[in-house]
Amino acid sequence: MRGVAKRRGFLPQVTLVFFTHAPYTCHMNQGHKFISIEGTDGSGKKTQIDLLCKYLLGQGKHVEKIAFPNYESESSGPVKMYLGGELGGSASCLDAYQASALYAVDRLCTMKKVLSKLPDDSYVIFDRYVPSNMIHQAGKIKSKKERDKFLKWVDKFEYETLKLPRPDVVFFMDVAPSVSLEIVKQRTTQKTGKKIDIHERDPKHLTDAYNAAKYVAKKFKWTTVDCVKDGKFKSIEEIHDIIINHIK
Ligand SMILES: Nc1ncnc2c1ncn2[C@@H]1O[C@H](COP(=O)(O)OP(=O)(O)OP(=O)(O)O)[C@@H](O)[C@H]1O
Ligand SMILES: [Mg+2]
Repeated sequence: MRGVAKRRGFLPQVTLVFFTHAPYTCHMNQGHKFISIEGTDGSGKKTQIDLLCKYLLGQGKHVEKIAFPNYESESSGPVKMYLGGELGGSASCLDAYQASALYAVDRLCTMKKVLSKLPDDSYVIFDRYVPSNMIHQAGKIKSKKERDKFLKWVDKFEYETLKLPRPDVVFFMDVAPSVSLEIVKQRTTQKTGKKIDIHERDPKHLTDAYNAAKYVAKKFKWTTVDCVKDGKFKSIEEIHDIIINHIK
C-alpha cells in the first residue's frame, strides 16, 4: 500500500509518497488515487464501478472512469484483432507474454492522454487494468515457477518500463465460474463486433483465469470481494457496501 503525506509551510506544498511493498520510481501521481476493479468475465465489475463512481461524485471528488480494453480508442486495435479471432481462433493463439504486450500498448496510449488532463487529487477507477493481464494471461501458464516469472515480468514491464501508475487498491471480485458463466452465456456483446469474444466462448479460459486470479490476488495482497453466498450472487447493494467500507 502507498502512504501519502502532505506538508505545508513556507515551502511550496510537498507531497511525500512512500511504499511498503515496491518502490514507485517512475510516475508522479499528483495526489490521484488509482483504484482497479478486477475479476473474471461477468463478475459485476461495471455494475460496482458505476455505483462507486456515483458514491465518490456524491462526496465531491473528481472521478475518471477508464475501461480497458479501451474500445473507444484506436489503441485497442491489436486487442480487438486478438479477441476477434483474427490472430487465431482461441486464446492460446498468443502466449501470455505476447497477448500481454497488446493490452499494455492500449493502456500506455490511453494513460498518456488521460494523465496529462487529470485535475489534481482525482479518483481514477479502472474497469480492468494491469492486473487483468495477470489474471487472464497467467491462467495460460501451468508451472508455478513459470507463472511467477511471468507475473514479475508484467509488474516490471507495465509499472516500471512503461511507467503506468501502480494502483493504490486492487479489488478482486470473487465470483466462481459456475455463477458467472451463466451470465456470460446469456449475454450478447458488441465489443468486438462479434457475438462473444474468444475468451468468453471458452469456459476453460474462464476457469483458468479464475484460478489464476485467486492465486494472484493472494500473492499481491489484493482486496478480495466475496461476491457469492450459497452459490448465488450477493445483492448489488451488499457488494457495494463491502467496497465502500474499504475506500473510506
Ligand atoms: N450482485 C449481482 N447480482 C445479480 N446480478 C448482477 C450482480 N452484479 C452484476 N449483475 C449482473 O451481471 C451482469 C454482468 O455484470 P457486469 O457487466 O457489471 O459485469 P462485468 O464484470 O463488468 O462483465 P465483463 O467482464 O463482461 O465486462 C449484468 O447483467 C449485471 O446486471
Ligand atoms: Mg464489464
